[in-house]
Amino acid sequence: MTKNLFLLSLCLFPFVAFSSTFTSENPIDLPTTPDNILPVIPSVRDVKGEALQVGSSYRIISIGRGAAGGDVYLGPSPNSTASCPDGVFRYNSDVGPSGMPVRFIKFGHSGPGIHEREDINIQFNITTSRLCVSHTIWKVGDYDVSLRARLLGTGGTLSQQDSSWFKIVKAELGYNLLYCPGPLVCPSCPVNQCQTVGVVFQNGKRRLALVIDQPLGVNFRKV
Ligand SMILES: *[C@@H]1O[C@H](CO)[C@@H](O)[C@H](O)[C@H]1NC(C)=O
Ligand SMILES: *[C@@H]1O[C@H](CO)[C@@H](O)[C@H](O)[C@H]1NC(C)=O
Repeated sequence: MTKNLFLLSLCLFPFVAFSSTFTSENPIDLPTTPDNILPVIPSVRDVKGEALQVGSSYRIISIGRGAAGGDVYLGPSPNSTASCPDGVFRYNSDVGPSGMPVRFIKFGHSGPGIHEREDINIQFNITTSRLCVSHTIWKVGDYDVSLRARLLGTGGTLSQQDSSWFKIVKAELGYNLLYCPGPLVCPSCPVNQCQTVGVVFQNGKRRLALVIDQPLGVNFRKV
């Protein structure tokens, strides 16, 4: 009897040894407690509930109705001598022209989806004259003394340190756009170091600008 038990334990030993090694050095870290579940960063979704993709273009539409609505477009800056339209505006009403398509270029190659709080550049995906091709990438301009705000325009760069980097964050209704330091200057800057994109009045038009309060609520409609 004793001898049989001894033989049995000899037979079991390699298995026990193997399985304990296996479990203690298991390379696949299964989430067992809430602590080791990585936070899932939600995708930004368009008006149909589909996740935004880097390979597609979208119109940025305001969540408001009437004068609180209106799509985002590229237009000439008032009193500007620039030879290309270089101002980012939203139309004065949701009844009227559609906005101009933009595409989102994200930093790094982390898949095709656009996620909340991800660092992105924004570019109007429109046909322009050859001269104005470079005036499609969004850029936050210098402080405008008369309007007391930094105005959004174009003439930016893509994926560079001096690029204007944005993030899309979920708002109570729709989303807000934030202007952020960006992944090359500050890889781990939290969203509270970003500034909000809103609207200021410029010669009767609604110009996108950095604001302290009243962020512009937006949604995205695939083109
Ligand atoms: C930009 O627009 C062109 C022409 O409409 C289209 O073929 C292309 O797919 C668009 N690019 C993106 C990223 O949506
Ligand atoms: C642009 O010029 C008009 C007059 O032509 C003036 O009333 C307006 O204040 C100017 N706007 C800016 C932003 O300088």
